[in-house]
Amino acid sequence: MDSLAIASIMPHLTPRERVEVDRLLLTRPMRCRVFRGDNALALTLREEFILSGPAETGKTIACLTLLDRIARAHPGAQLSIVRKVQSDLEATVLQTYRDKILGKASDVHAFGGSHAEWFAYPNGSRVWVGGLDNPGKTLSSERDAVYVNQCEELSISDWETLTTRTTGRAGHVPLAFTCGDCNPRGSKHWILERAKAGGLRLLHSYHRDNPTLFDSAGNITPQGEITLARLGALTGLRKKRLHEGLWVQAEGMIYADWDPAVHVRSSDVGNFPALAIAADDGYTNPAALLWVGIDVDGRLHVLAEWYETQKIHSEIAAAALSMRFRFGRRPQVVVVDAAAAGLVGAMQSVGLPAIGHKGRVLDSINLVADLLKVRGDGRPRLTVDPGCNHFISEIEDYTWGSGSKEAPATGQADHAMTAIYYLAHYLYAPHDGEETRVGYAPAEITDKY
Ligand SMILES: Nc1ncnc2c1ncn2[C@@H]1O[C@H](COP(=O)(O)OP(=O)(O)OP(=O)(O)O)[C@@H](O)[C@H]1O
Ligand SMILES: [Mg+2]
Repeated sequence: MDSLAIASIMPHLTPRERVEVDRLLLTRPMRCRVFRGDNALALTLREEFILSGPAETGKTIACLTLLDRIARAHPGAQLSIVRKVQSDLEATVLQTYRDKILGKASDVHAFGGSHAEWFAYPNGSRVWVGGLDNPGKTLSSERDAVYVNQCEELSISDWETLTTRTTGRAGHVPLAFTCGDCNPRGSKHWILERAKAGGLRLLHSYHRDNPTLFDSAGNITPQGEITLARLGALTGLRKKRLHEGLWVQAEGMIYADWDPAVHVRSSDVGNFPALAIAADDGYTNPAALLWVGIDVDGRLHVLAEWYETQKIHSEIAAAALSMRFRFGRRPQVVVVDAAAAGLVGAMQSVGLPAIGHKGRVLDSINLVADLLKVRGDGRPRLTVDPGCNHFISEIEDYTWGSGSKEAPATGQADHAMTAIYYLAHYLYAPHDGEETRVGYAPAEITDKY
């Protein structure tokens, strides 16, 4: 039975029969496309999942096929294709959707002008498309399923926001869910943490699962030779992640002393007589807040982080203030990018002791590298709570630019890093002659505020 015929009978079925037809549709072998391994498994799931793997294993085709099948099986289904940045959608996932899933003589039509906003199916189903930086109508109401392309680009809060759009209230399919695909990133990425905690089913896709690269007997195809030679020629971290599919940390890391076994640990706010907030401003890029405990010896511990895009200064200040409920205390100092006078003002207007401060990046990198070193007492002077996934991901992925040790590589996520730089520089860099604030912190900053 073709998809049009299926769509035409669906409205006449009882809910029970629809579930059964849906199950059959999701598991039937495709006429012209073969799915293997977890790519095939993904087509049968109706729960939160992410399909992880190196480049070109067929993850996106599998996820788009799932979405298309749901759209055809459930008249009126409201579905979304989402990526972190809107401008990345068209040339990647939407091209695959138009060319490989819908095809030329499709009964599905795009609406919304030069950049498609939604795709309309003959049975009334819609697939909305958008970036998290410009969600438009993509996420304006409940969805039956949301598919996120390249989930590793999202923050955990982005992902959690998406899951609130698929609680089942849209009601066109038996079970609503959020799913996605990704390439591996650092070993502390929130995707791994969420999967470990049990909230997310993490699936693994391999090159042998892509029938254009390997035939059914497992022999490499001519296309497979070309693709794997190209991926094999990658170097360093990209090769490990995109060729081998490994969730690994960066080579050429700026923080060579970083060791999760040493630096990631839980600690209670009660261990720290002083509490500081470090803040990096952002709107399209994330704004980052770090709550940092300072102990009697001037050791820093990042207790919690907040990492969000599309928040205005008053919302960032409200987030900074709200943590007093979690920690039962106000911070002694809030150190904000000196260039972000608006954010300093917004923090001050809610009663937070905010100051603008900024040092040279290279000085700050040196300070943080020094804080990470394990001292004679067997402890480093900077540690981080296991919940601070963005901080951990950033520090693991943070690399020097093109072979030099003069500046970090451009274009990498460094918002939590930047926030800690303002604070570390404020506390530890020499001020007013030789003295560093940390020489008399935390008593000094406690007295000051
Ligand atoms: N089951 C399949 N049937 C037919 N072609 C496939 C299948 N799986 C993958 N391909 C082809 O292989 C190529 C890569 O597939 P896809 O874009 O889904 O990979 P991916 O795993 O999402 O890669 P990346 O990690 O780079 O985003 C595409 O050209 C696609 O058409
Ligand atoms: Mg893909």
